[in-house]
Amino acid sequence: GATRHYTFNIDYHNLTRLCHTRSVLSVNKQVPGLPLVAREGDQVLVKVVNHVSNNVTIHWHGIRQLRTAWADGPAYVTQCPIRTNQSYTYNFTITGQRGTLLWHAHISWLRSSIYGAIIILPRRNESYPFAKPYKEVPIIFGEWFNVDPEAVIAQALQTGGGPNVSDAYTINGLPGPLYNCSSKDTFKLKVKPGKTYLLRIINAALNDELFFSIANHTLTVVETDAVYTKPFSADHLLITPGQTMNVLLATKPDFPNSTFLMEARAYFTGQGTFDNSTVAGILEYSHPTSSNYLSLDKLPLYKPTLPPINGTAFVTNFTRQLRSLANSKFPANVPQKVDRKFFFTVGLGSTPCPKNTTCQGPNGTKFAAAVNNISFALPSVALLQAYFFGQSNGVYTDDFPANPPVPFNYTGPPPNNTMVTNATKAVVLAYNTSVELVMQDTSILGAESHPLHLHGFNFFVVGQGFGNYDPNKDPAKFNLVDPIERNTFGVPAGGWVAIRFLADNPGVWFMHCHLDVHTTWGLRMAWIVLDGPQPNQKLLPPPSDLPKC
Ligand code: C2O
Repeated sequence: GATRHYTFNIDYHNLTRLCHTRSVLSVNKQVPGLPLVAREGDQVLVKVVNHVSNNVTIHWHGIRQLRTAWADGPAYVTQCPIRTNQSYTYNFTITGQRGTLLWHAHISWLRSSIYGAIIILPRRNESYPFAKPYKEVPIIFGEWFNVDPEAVIAQALQTGGGPNVSDAYTINGLPGPLYNCSSKDTFKLKVKPGKTYLLRIINAALNDELFFSIANHTLTVVETDAVYTKPFSADHLLITPGQTMNVLLATKPDFPNSTFLMEARAYFTGQGTFDNSTVAGILEYSHPTSSNYLSLDKLPLYKPTLPPINGTAFVTNFTRQLRSLANSKFPANVPQKVDRKFFFTVGLGSTPCPKNTTCQGPNGTKFAAAVNNISFALPSVALLQAYFFGQSNGVYTDDFPANPPVPFNYTGPPPNNTMVTNATKAVVLAYNTSVELVMQDTSILGAESHPLHLHGFNFFVVGQGFGNYDPNKDPAKFNLVDPIERNTFGVPAGGWVAIRFLADNPGVWFMHCHLDVHTTWGLRMAWIVLDGPQPNQKLLPPPSDLPKC
């Protein structure tokens, strides 16, 4: 493969949306930032230079980082942050992946404006498993806040309440015509009739799973999270934060004499507030013969219909039908035997309200979120260094529970005690352990979908269902042939999901809900995968410019 060099300058950038101007943090003064483009097999070197007063890290979301956990990016997990006027070069090789992923800041809520696409093209001389599209277009969803999101989350952490929600969703940084003072900031997808476009769709929003649709057009999913799928046609998509999806858009064979809106808005089943606004963009056909077809904006405009806000039935149907391509060239290597089983409850809970504070959680407590009742506390040094240099003492313990401490009816009325424990615990896995993990939504404070993201691995979604997981009955229904392979998948609201992965990547790997508010409240944990016996099964040593805490 080739070597690709990038420089990401973290800088302030004045941005005006909805008639509010803010100085946002950005990469190279662009929001979204530049796409990182590489081919499968390439080595990528990204020098990140921090010119702002905030500490920063960048995560290459979905990149396997085989043996290069040092380049993964979550702050205090694989590295200490890059401080003001310092730099760090992320150095990794793209192995066995091609498709769309995303990069984003991985500290506090900085990814609200520090994010962009990762576009991995097939190796030279290799083609897509579908006809070559006429054009490829990234479609990146984000969120715009009229105020500084860092202040929003700082305030929420202080009062123990839910944070304020964003003021708009964006497509490629633009909120679109359904918001006040925003019609000039509208994403336009200009197309020709009778062509196929590859849309590289990325949900980089902070806190919301999104439905997406283009009026009068069907979308065919061909890849999710940089893994090819069996082609699957749908009028609407569901995409959670952290997920990516390549879809084919076949335009109408003839100039349609109309314009079409594309829209995205939240899927939400929880109790609190959320941004229930809608971002729209325009699908605009260029006239086949007249390049100055002047009446384009006078054409009839069609709007899509999206599933209802709490459209869990649609979500279930959609996510159940997605399947790995699983052919001889792109096999689905689903672990058929399991070495270790884990059952994690994921959901909200409480911690005590600090003195002299009015907290907004249940019974005056402070909101928290937890996995198996542990609300994960980030250490003040990076876990990976502590692990690698044998200095875990006082940083983390390796006794993360494989099962919840107190089993209860997870989808029934909540237990009286919603208190969770703050701790920094990890699961330790031997190299090449085959893991089965069932994640169960607890419905404490309401059933809510949690898009769980695992760093360092793809996993296979072998089963999902509603109600309480039944270890005696449900495994018989698992799909071990062509389940979807992903790095982020929603634990269904009021239900469970079963995933399998092979722990073939040594290092420390974060797993968390990709709704930033839940991550911040502690819905996160870490896996430690030990080195294997062979030299090529060991974590590489840290780079010399790795930031210090
Ligand atoms: Cu996309 Cu841990 O993150």
